[in-house]
Amino acid sequence: MKVLITGGCGFIGSEVVRVAIEQGHEVVNLDKLTYAGNPANVADVADDPRYSFINGDIADPQIATQSVQGVEVVINLAAESHVDRSLHNPTEFIETDVVGTATLIMAAREAGVRRFVQVSTDEVYGSIPAGAFKETDPIQPSSPYSASKAGGDLQALAIHHTFGQDIVITRGSNTYGPRQYPEKLVPLFITNALDGLPLPVYGDGQQIRDWIHVRDHAEGIWHAMEHGEAGQVYNVGGGNEWPNLEITERILAHTGASDDLITYVEDRPGHDRRYALDTTKLRGMGWAPKVDFDDGLASTVEWYRERRDWWEPIKSGEYADWHAKNYAGR
Ligand code: NAD
Ligand code: TYD
Repeated sequence: MKVLITGGCGFIGSEVVRVAIEQGHEVVNLDKLTYAGNPANVADVADDPRYSFINGDIADPQIATQSVQGVEVVINLAAESHVDRSLHNPTEFIETDVVGTATLIMAAREAGVRRFVQVSTDEVYGSIPAGAFKETDPIQPSSPYSASKAGGDLQALAIHHTFGQDIVITRGSNTYGPRQYPEKLVPLFITNALDGLPLPVYGDGQQIRDWIHVRDHAEGIWHAMEHGEAGQVYNVGGGNEWPNLEITERILAHTGASDDLITYVEDRPGHDRRYALDTTKLRGMGWAPKVDFDDGLASTVEWYRERRDWWEPIKSGEYADWHAKNYAGR
């Protein structure tokens, strides 16, 4: 099968590319190569004859039309994905996560693509003090990032309803593993700990996230693509709920760094307190996460320990400039 994977040079997208190639499929990777897109993330498959790359924007109708030609399935992971950045520049998020998603779906419909998978996030449901969100719960996003992802979901569901286009949505939980851009909690804290730099914990550090390993998330997306029903949403959660401070302490233990590095900083504005997903639906279809959280975290720390060549240029370049500009007060 020929599959178009967008955002394939990103963290989760590159893992979905690997899953597809391992299963013998032909992959077209469409990626704009934003600050978060890194060709090194797919270096291991780049020479495979089944792999090809298009450098372009999903929100560009011409690129979208060109990219879907002859494709059976589209898996859309291209997105602006970082909450903190969305607080500074929401319109960039709307452009890719809403306009880009709708543009790509319409191009896929025109080209007769059999199935479109929209990769979304648990953040569209908003914060939940107790219990876990089901796919039928209303969405109540609270950051510009999650609102733009919710906009993408609504476009997808509306186009399915209106035109009968076969669309499946996945909503994944906080993902960790190798190749994650070091602005997100886990890779930022691991790389800072390895360098003896402060770990900036927002607020009281008691915010809760449900963590899933990137391989489990990628396989969940693939499973929903293969076995999901058109027009349906599937939660993909790891079932590992931890307060941020607990994750921080585990990272310090795995890296051997000192607790003194923990630094409490001003809270993120509008910070969601807790995310939790009910994954009964996808589990009922035969998917289950396999990676034990502590094993996954330990192997992730090892990857960053060994791959300074991957993250040092990032942290000394664009990332450092952006943080200096936007976090001067923190
Ligand atoms: P990422 O930021 O690591 O990668 C995003 C990729 O998309 C990059 O390669 C970037 O160059 C590309 N891209 C951005 N804008 C584009 C555009 N307009 N056209 C083409 N390519 C573009 O993101 P990620 O963490 O791998 O997340 C992938 C998807 O999974 C996103 O849709 C995100 O919302 C969703 N998600 C992420 C998490 C998480 O914890 N990281 C959890 C749940 C869902
Ligand atoms: P993040 O990795 O940005 O993912 P998201 O906001 O999409 O859940 O953040 C995960 C949690 O960690 C979130 O509660 C914010 C918190 N956090 C910090 O405490 N310090 C940091 O430097 C970062 C990046 C995040």
